[in-house]
Amino acid sequence: MAAESDGSRPRLAAARALAAVLDQGRALDGVLEQELSRLSQARDRALARRLAHAVLRSWPALDALLGRLINRRPARRERLVWFILAVGLAELRQGREPAPAVVHAAVAATAAAGLARLKGLSNAVLRGYLRRKTELEHDLGDNPVLRWGYPRWFIDLVRRDWPDHWQDLLDAGNQPPPLTLRVNRRHWTRDQAQAALAAAGIDAGVVPGLPDALMLDQRAAVSALPGFSDGGLSVQDAAAQLAVEHLALTAGQRVLDACAAPGGKAAHILERADVALTAVDVDAERLARVADNFKRLGLTGQLQLGDATRPEDWWDGRLFDRILLDAPCSASGVIRRHPDVRWLRQPADIGVLADLQARMLDALWPLLAPGGILVYATCSVLADENQHQARAFLERHDDAETINHDQLPGLDREPGRQVLPGTLAMDGFYHLAVRRLPPGCGRASRSSGPD
Ligand SMILES: C[S@@+](CC[C@H](N)C(=O)[O-])C[C@H]1O[C@@H](n2cnc3c(N)ncnc32)[C@H](O)[C@@H]1O
Repeated sequence: MAAESDGSRPRLAAARALAAVLDQGRALDGVLEQELSRLSQARDRALARRLAHAVLRSWPALDALLGRLINRRPARRERLVWFILAVGLAELRQGREPAPAVVHAAVAATAAAGLARLKGLSNAVLRGYLRRKTELEHDLGDNPVLRWGYPRWFIDLVRRDWPDHWQDLLDAGNQPPPLTLRVNRRHWTRDQAQAALAAAGIDAGVVPGLPDALMLDQRAAVSALPGFSDGGLSVQDAAAQLAVEHLALTAGQRVLDACAAPGGKAAHILERADVALTAVDVDAERLARVADNFKRLGLTGQLQLGDATRPEDWWDGRLFDRILLDAPCSASGVIRRHPDVRWLRQPADIGVLADLQARMLDALWPLLAPGGILVYATCSVLADENQHQARAFLERHDDAETINHDQLPGLDREPGRQVLPGTLAMDGFYHLAVRRLPPGCGRASRSSGPD
């Protein structure tokens, strides 16, 4: 069948997903999942995903190029052609496929979208780009928005917070991430998992400082990995695995994971130590995913639907020895995995998120036993959610003492540590670990190591 082989389907799927994200403000994962479910071939699904990501990473430049190549913006009902052409341009710029095949597929996708009358336009635009490529690319200049593919406000914020690292940081957000696994040490050792992967022809490297992580260079069908279906492996970035290292868990502790869904860190906690875990999340659907993950991994914890800013609604009054607050945040540290985030976030969101994080910290702090440790984590690179948030918390709570974890990967961002995206091929994450001092002790001015 022509439509099966003309390459139109994955391009059209990517274009539809892009329209939903960029025109309707919907999150990519959900819309892509819907689009990909219509593609029967794994190869097409991978291509559609890759193309949608590529367009989101360079949307301002693609949009500007299309503006140069098309005299008149298409009418609303023809808007999809803009995204089909953005996909085509992204492919031509990448140069992975022969140019005629790319043009052919874009023209076919235009027809498959019910816009056959615009086939000539699609053909002319992409051929026009090929003809004038050098001039058009040169004319983009070195405007940072066009060069790195982020909104101006975000670039300005990253530049303000990371004057020495901002360009690397923006670059890192445009690199495809590795596939990182977490080895369930209740199931087997990391060496055993690595050997099983090697036997299946998959090279997996260790990550310094992360005892449960294995990083794969190549793409792999996760569910087919040896040990995955019976709970020996999970997908989790190495930086996300750092939270457990900061928690310094020991058997018998009562542990609260206050923003637990979908349960990656909660599962890691249970894999690492025989603790009594309460996993709270405000989102019932997401909390159900925690249950699914625990089931696959053979783990047991108490699941609690609840709002972390209102523990009075769900807390039984017994203090916790450890609290993990993996707070909702800008996700600015995981932009390489979620390239839609840069277009979906608005500048005002950062203040709203920082306020929510502060309220969560304050509400949860009284639930921690004296001597207990709270770990605050974000997958953000922004100071307002990280070191500014952490400093303000310490100012509000005289009975909180910082714990140094200099031995763990990351940069010192007093009073916590920041992993920048790309460091050891990890996502960007911030961690603050604080111990609650006994009543009446006040805060010692020095910091100390973990127990
Ligand atoms: C960064 S994600 C947590 C990821 C999780 N810790 C993991 O490792 O899989 C943040 C979570 O906070 C939840 N959340 C947002 N607002 C909340 C609130 N007020 N109380 C509790 N959970 C909340 C969201 O539903 C989301 O699941």
